[in-house]
Amino acid sequence: MRRIGLFSLLVIVVLLLAACPAPPPPATAPEGGAAAGEAAAAPSGELNLLCTPQVQWCEGMKAEFEKRYPDITVNFVRMSSGESLTRLRNERDNPQFDIWWGGPIDSFIAAKQEGLLEAYDSPNHANLADPEKYLDPDKYWVGIYVGTLGFATNKNWLAENPGVEPPRSWDDLLKPEFQGQIMVAHPSSSGTSYTALCTILQIKGEEEGWEFLKQYAGQVLQFTKSGAAPAKFVGQGEAAVGIVFSHDIVAEIENGAPLELTFPEEGTGYEIGGMGIVAGAKNLENAKLWYDWALEPATQELGPKYQAYQAPTVKGAQAARPELLQVTLIDYDFQWCGENKKAFVDKFTNEIAGAENLRK
Ligand code: G6P
Repeated sequence: MRRIGLFSLLVIVVLLLAACPAPPPPATAPEGGAAAGEAAAAPSGELNLLCTPQVQWCEGMKAEFEKRYPDITVNFVRMSSGESLTRLRNERDNPQFDIWWGGPIDSFIAAKQEGLLEAYDSPNHANLADPEKYLDPDKYWVGIYVGTLGFATNKNWLAENPGVEPPRSWDDLLKPEFQGQIMVAHPSSSGTSYTALCTILQIKGEEEGWEFLKQYAGQVLQFTKSGAAPAKFVGQGEAAVGIVFSHDIVAEIENGAPLELTFPEEGTGYEIGGMGIVAGAKNLENAKLWYDWALEPATQELGPKYQAYQAPTVKGAQAARPELLQVTLIDYDFQWCGENKKAFVDKFTNEIAGAENLRK
């Protein structure tokens, strides 16, 4: 082949190669993000939610979250605080839930102590109105609502017992007219009931408090499994007085129950409803999405849509029933009550009232 021809051929080949764009480098998507120029894939998959508040609110929150993240399916189980703690203990080596939402933080403090929760430093912790009160310093749990303990008294029972007043102090619960006329959940299953137990121990001190609890248990017609149930049963006239969070009593009154709401004037206990990611969560990224979402003001204002009147914990969210917080509160020691939950519940169950045949 003539040299000139070969050279021309080489020139042509070089020119042709220069004209062809180099193949793009392999798209190395940044960690967890989309490859350059591609839209990030929408979060998808499942989220297994352990939900402690009223089932109506759990259903509502599932629907609201799935609206926000249509490719994620939320599977939830509604379970009271004590049952939830037992479930997390039993499933420690193979957790079935990804996030626990709701119920007083006493049980979350106990769960953290037992290594059942995973720490998560959410960017939305910055939304909290009072991080000192609403956030675990080690980020294992966070508060998502606030509720105060109240007494629900059946108005028809009051009319049938002229001269009898609804209880306005813890001591009033021991009055003879309320013998066998009180309904409250059992503290082994219910965070509501445990909050009442630990409130009494703080107001009266441990020695006098346990003596009071013995007499208080003697007044109870039947213990229930879930904390809100006594408001329903007392509303139906099964007993005279229920010990329940005040927002649950307001919801029952809204549904037509003939109940009068009163508060113990010497001071009542209150709950900070908790949230935490379950240690070993299988859908961790989706659990973090729920966690962040639950700390947005708009999310915390959804409650009333599902007859949930707990007060919010984040700035910018308005309480639907602020009057429920304007009562005398004790300086409830969540850390002490949380750390002693197992011991106090065992003492109550073994020495005062067992947890057999709880009313569902
Ligand atoms: C009700 C209340 C919640 C509370 C929960 C505790 O649902 O509305 O504010 O956190 O009870 O449930 P438990 O059954 O454990 O008392």
